[in-house]
Amino acid sequence: MDLTVRPRRLRSSEALRKMVRETRMDAASLIYPMFVMDGENKVEEIDSLPGQFRYTVDRMDEEIERLLAAGVQNVMLFGIPEIKDEVGSQAYAEDGVVQRALRRTAEKYPEMYLITDVCMCEYTSHGHCGVLCGHDVDNDKTLDLLAKTALSHVQAGAQMVAPSDMMDGRIAAIRECLDANGYTNIPIMSYAVKFASAFYGPFREAAGSAPSFGDRKSYQMDFHNRREALKEAMLDVEEGADIIMVKPAMSYLDLVREVHDMTDLPIATYSVSGEYAMVKAAAANGWIDEDRIVSEMATAAFRAGADIYITYYAKEIAKYMKDGIIG
Ligand code: PBG
Repeated sequence: MDLTVRPRRLRSSEALRKMVRETRMDAASLIYPMFVMDGENKVEEIDSLPGQFRYTVDRMDEEIERLLAAGVQNVMLFGIPEIKDEVGSQAYAEDGVVQRALRRTAEKYPEMYLITDVCMCEYTSHGHCGVLCGHDVDNDKTLDLLAKTALSHVQAGAQMVAPSDMMDGRIAAIRECLDANGYTNIPIMSYAVKFASAFYGPFREAAGSAPSFGDRKSYQMDFHNRREALKEAMLDVEEGADIIMVKPAMSYLDLVREVHDMTDLPIATYSVSGEYAMVKAAAANGWIDEDRIVSEMATAAFRAGADIYITYYAKEIAKYMKDGIIG
């Protein structure tokens, strides 16, 4: 055969395949989402997320130590309060569950980088991501509470805040509040492109944050839309976001690429609870090879343009990188 160009030439050995690899990854890019709950001396496995747990603040250390041992140095905290009310007051309480978790971890594990999810839905009795006016979430009233929540996290030791509520103008509101209090150097990772997605189902069970009526479609994005995603990303860039997130990950990698190409900010993508649960369920049935599936999902996110990957599989992926399965 008269073939001059033979792509297979560069695939002929493991050494060569690794030499010409286009996507390089590092455990420093991984963030692990972790659930902390009120109470004492409890670790509960989450039914909808086998292998994931809720920890009371006094039992967090065991997970933080496992993460550090695996080479994962970034954690994003989600709080599950005992008491919920109409205005989500535990979200910004000085002795709230996330605030206590931050103080403890910042003091005991200074090498762990602490990020917090900033939202109201885990703290409101109605499960919506803001305060209500009738059956609607009141955007502008919610902004004050989000800013207050972000500030209280930073005062307790958060090194980065990640608002996930999808209210309009929240990045500007949080930036202004942090700056006014002297925290000009705390970055904001915006869940800028966040879709109203069935992929969050297992998380809502984990956090007890399903809305008690209606859904989140009046604030989270319609998954049919692409140009609107670029608009959301641009707005948050203008408002002062430092990192832009696209969420979920697996079914939205087209937008990871587009947002990456459009901005010069680092891009994060969140492989959400539904992605994890699907892989776990299929693996438990022996239908797929879990390690290889997770490796491919992570690599695809980075190949699409993500700089940061938020995943319940962070420890495992760090190991795949160390073992050279991916990297
Ligand atoms: C809070 C929040 C959610 C997730 C991250 N932050 C739930 C939601 O928006 O309903 C989902 C994370 C996951 O599914 O793993 N607003």
